[in-house]
Amino acid sequence: EEEVGKTSRQQRLLVVANRLPVSAVRRGEDSWFLEMSVGGLVSGLLGVKGFEVSWIGWAGVNVPDEIGQEALTKALAEKVRSLGLLLDTYVVSCIPVFLDEETVHQYYNGYCNNILWPLFHYLGLPHEDRLDTTRSFQSQFAAYKKANQMFADVVNEHYQEGDVVWCNDYHLMLLPKCLKESNSKMKVGWFLHTPFPSSEIHRMLPSRSELLHSVLAADLIGFHTYDYARHFVSACTRILGLEGTPKGVQDQGRLTRVAAFPMGIDSNRFLRALELPKVQDVIKEIEKRFEGRKVMLGIDRLDMIKGIPQKLLAFENFLEENAYWRDKVVLVQIAVPTRADVLEYQKLTSQVHEMVARINGRFGTLTALPINHMDRSLGFHELCALYAVTDVALITSLRDGMNLVGYEYVACQERKKGVLILSEFAGAAQSLGAGAILVNPWNITEVAAAITQALNMQSGEREKRHKLNFSHVKTHTSQKWAETFVSELNDTVVQQQLRTRQ
Ligand code: G6P
Repeated sequence: EEEVGKTSRQQRLLVVANRLPVSAVRRGEDSWFLEMSVGGLVSGLLGVKGFEVSWIGWAGVNVPDEIGQEALTKALAEKVRSLGLLLDTYVVSCIPVFLDEETVHQYYNGYCNNILWPLFHYLGLPHEDRLDTTRSFQSQFAAYKKANQMFADVVNEHYQEGDVVWCNDYHLMLLPKCLKESNSKMKVGWFLHTPFPSSEIHRMLPSRSELLHSVLAADLIGFHTYDYARHFVSACTRILGLEGTPKGVQDQGRLTRVAAFPMGIDSNRFLRALELPKVQDVIKEIEKRFEGRKVMLGIDRLDMIKGIPQKLLAFENFLEENAYWRDKVVLVQIAVPTRADVLEYQKLTSQVHEMVARINGRFGTLTALPINHMDRSLGFHELCALYAVTDVALITSLRDGMNLVGYEYVACQERKKGVLILSEFAGAAQSLGAGAILVNPWNITEVAAAITQALNMQSGEREKRHKLNFSHVKTHTSQKWAETFVSELNDTVVQQQLRTRQ
């Protein structure tokens, strides 16, 4: 087990994110069930131990009446307690923020997922085809403001002096300012889990300045990579006319620290799972199922940033060019449904289904289909087993803040030493670049060539590449990430206090 940093051990942490680690999903008119939330933010933050964590976030469903809200709060607490044991984390409580249906539509589906998310991933702002004529930009931004204030109210209610308040992601860019306005002494950090785009992209946003000013109210601003931090500082200098320094952004004598903190995973959790007899059994089952074929794997939320259509085209190109491999390889693609109320996601789902059917129709035989596609998430143990039997993992994100799938794959490959093909546009490429085959996902023939290279790679080279990545994944854990961020936040606040006293 990794050492837990001394400075932060006793610190109470209020983690604020749009989504709680457990989400309620509606089943019929007035019932719901709880399930683990998906996405890098949750899987990374859940690997954090040694802090007393209260997690504040949206519960995932609209529960208008107080009795329902109480029941949900209680159920969340129970679920987290049971998962807390399972996951060996230290989430003490989950505090839900209840957002009404209209706010969810305008704030979450609208401003967050139809405006900020695509823009930050270089997919631009809505054109006619993505413009929702029933909702204006102004009303979506108003809902975004309202939602951020609602999160701030819940933080204020639970805050105790000395707590560290850690705001996460693009959903909560107005939160640092709301918090500092009500309590200037509060220690506030903000971390972005997506890319921060070039300032030339950010400047398209009608609310560009307000968002930047608000984030700058935090004491520490963190990104996954140095490039994102640099883009943020450029946006502040070019759009707001502030001064950028190597340490951060200077505004009228006050410095907001800006830095890169690449996230990791809790690799030991994966290594421990692989030793369990039930996981070994699943491994044997999958091996039997795909006997005689190499297994390639893609695991993505069904999101346009993941480049799933591009991945499918590359795989199709590979099959076209390599008749030899046609019945000797299978691509297992797990596509986890996400944000299904947003039109773009619905369109993507149909597009992916159509492509899978076409490729399977073209290259399938009576005994084998080239693509094994599933629209669902896997349980943790099934996931570990699948990672362990995979020969080649294929991540083709068009842009991705970090992408921890590559980390998880590497953690499960001690036995097999499989190959990771990784998009150079994922934040993880900056840390796993030494061992992975990096590709430009837009270049279909390049990705197809990488697939051939990976499948033919000799064991000596596979071992060498795996070793590089494994030692990185093992040492750069989510635990270290959180400790570094929190201790840097503590230091920054101390330095600010010293400066103001001088
Ligand atoms: C990304 C975002 C997270 C988000 C996750 C899942 O990883 O950075 O903030 O929680 O996707 O998306 P969802 O909209 O379902 O929360």
